[in-house]
Amino acid sequence: MVYANTKWGKYRYLKTGARWKPYLPQTQWASRTAVSSMLKRWGAVYLKPNNGTGGYGIMKITRTGNGRYTLKSGYATRTFHSFGSLYSAVSRHTARRGYLVQKAIPLLHYKKRPFDLRIMVQRNRQRGWDVTGMVGRLARPKKIVTNYHNGGTPMPVEKLISPHIQGKRRTGFIQELKTLGSGVSEFLSAKYPHFPAFGVDVAIDAKLKPWILEVNTKPDKSIFNALKNKTMYRRILSYARMQKRS
Ligand SMILES: Nc1ncnc2c1ncn2[C@@H]1O[C@H](COP(=O)(O)OP(=O)(O)OP(=O)(O)O)[C@@H](O)[C@H]1O
Ligand SMILES: [Mg+2]
Repeated sequence: MVYANTKWGKYRYLKTGARWKPYLPQTQWASRTAVSSMLKRWGAVYLKPNNGTGGYGIMKITRTGNGRYTLKSGYATRTFHSFGSLYSAVSRHTARRGYLVQKAIPLLHYKKRPFDLRIMVQRNRQRGWDVTGMVGRLARPKKIVTNYHNGGTPMPVEKLISPHIQGKRRTGFIQELKTLGSGVSEFLSAKYPHFPAFGVDVAIDAKLKPWILEVNTKPDKSIFNALKNKTMYRRILSYARMQKRS
């Protein structure tokens, strides 16, 4: 089986691994029926370009109690009174390029702003996979994406999760995230063998369950340079230099 280097390709491949399935939010091509049935099932969904990056082109739909729908993108919010009118607005975007629909994960908040995580995983000298960095991304108020290039603020993971989980449990939780990141990267590298690094985007819900939003094959290093503490950034650069040499 050939899997394209797109969000859909990587999702399809990850789903073949029984170990990763529980971490994958349901995702489909954004057909009218898929958007309709996933909204019924989950109440809120994300729509994203199959080939997008940087959080661009992303929309969020929420079904409100009174049979209405809100559509958010950028800072804008629009309300629709029927699924038909909502879908015709959405399809003006989705018709032009391939779009996916994904169950929305209600992200944990820090000071009233949602956040998610990026785990940087790089190949080591022994051709294994090491987690070389982990950073939290705090959304700008009123934004539906946390991306650095979309106004998100990089923050230490410990700080963001400290109101939700403390002490030994926190250390254990971070370890669990690292194991998830390196495991997923190792698995992906079997079908995507030419990439020296993966960036795993993880959402955490209110039950502290991690969800894999997507895996990037050319993860941005600069987000780690935005942290005051440069330890991770230096490690990431040194892995990249080592890979160039070998
Ligand atoms: N299913 C979801 N539930 C909750 N939030 C989501 C979901 N999908 C995406 N988001 C939010 O939108 C952001 C961007 O999504 P995603 O990483 O899939 O898109 P992208 O444009 O490929 O970004 P990049 O390539 O820069 O990582 C996520 O970091 C997250 O904040
Ligand atoms: Mg992403």
